[in-house]
Amino acid sequence: MASDLTGGVKLERGREVLRPDIPQSFRRTFALDVLEGLSQKPKRIAPVYLYDEIGSMLFQQITTLEEYYLTQCEQEILTLHMEEIYKSLSRQSFNLIELGAGDGRKTVLLIDHFIKKSLDFEYITLDISPESINGLSLMLEEMFRPARLKVTGIIAEYFDGLKWLAERSSSRNLILFLGSNIGNFEYAKAQKFLRHLWDCLKPDDQLLIGFDLKKDIEVLNRAYNDSGGITREFNMNLLDRINRELGGDFDRGKFQYYSGYDVTTGAVESYLVSTERQEVFIRNLNKIFLFDAWEPIHTESSYKYLESEIACLAAETGFQVEKDFFDSNRYFVDSLWRVQKPGAAIASCSAECL
Ligand code: TRP
Repeated sequence: MASDLTGGVKLERGREVLRPDIPQSFRRTFALDVLEGLSQKPKRIAPVYLYDEIGSMLFQQITTLEEYYLTQCEQEILTLHMEEIYKSLSRQSFNLIELGAGDGRKTVLLIDHFIKKSLDFEYITLDISPESINGLSLMLEEMFRPARLKVTGIIAEYFDGLKWLAERSSSRNLILFLGSNIGNFEYAKAQKFLRHLWDCLKPDDQLLIGFDLKKDIEVLNRAYNDSGGITREFNMNLLDRINRELGGDFDRGKFQYYSGYDVTTGAVESYLVSTERQEVFIRNLNKIFLFDAWEPIHTESSYKYLESEIACLAAETGFQVEKDFFDSNRYFVDSLWRVQKPGAAIASCSAECL
């Protein structure tokens, strides 16, 4: 497939970083999103903005914490069930396409096993963050150079990148959407996201997707309130980022981090709460934002799932669940789905499980 891809910048033998010609001005979009978010009630800032270079480094630290069970659980799943995952894959050559890969620790486990089993595949990582694409593709290319793994990084929004790729490759696809990425969407948005993904895929393409499951509320709350305060720092960095990139004058000493599981929404909701009445000026927007005492900025909802909700989500968006892989505590699941096309009538599960 690689030879069909044009417009790539060849950085090193075997590794390409591609920047499809998709118009984008991230800082302008950031400024406009902050304007919109801080003008809403309740105030909110989209969670994607947590992940600048510093935020990504802090999140990476979070994933190593005992309290943040999600990453360990998923690593256990991949270790325990790797052979079964491998057996559930078709034998034809395929593109292994990862959306939002993070630091690649889980990716390495999968690639390593697939290479040992002599599967014929290329690895493609897709993300809007150039830092994350560059770091990960370089690491994987070096690591798997002896096996001559072809690694491609695409800097683009997921669906732009997938459509761009579909026009250039006829291979089958296995999409990885691991971690709690899907948990960042509320149910209807998750539906929309998955249906959009389905649109970009071919019949019989597969998707390995991670879901954090509903569980003991104390376990959930601990994961988002670690004792070392790294998650607090990770959220506070959002204010620093607005100061750095948009010329804001946020004083983080006047904000408190709060995070807790909401039993009615089924999500861990995170906030930065203004501890006093104050004004914050953002130079790039030339605007003053007024905060009342104890007024929150919503930074993230992390939705937790029941197994029955996952089955519904798949059926409603045109996928067939092939197999669920759990960790030993049943805290987390990686679910393997297959694209069903031509689309049978899309199931509606609302009566049964929502
Ligand atoms: N989306 C991730 C999750 O839900 C990232 C995350 C971890 C996070 N801790 C957080 C986002 C705290 C906001 C606040 O697990």
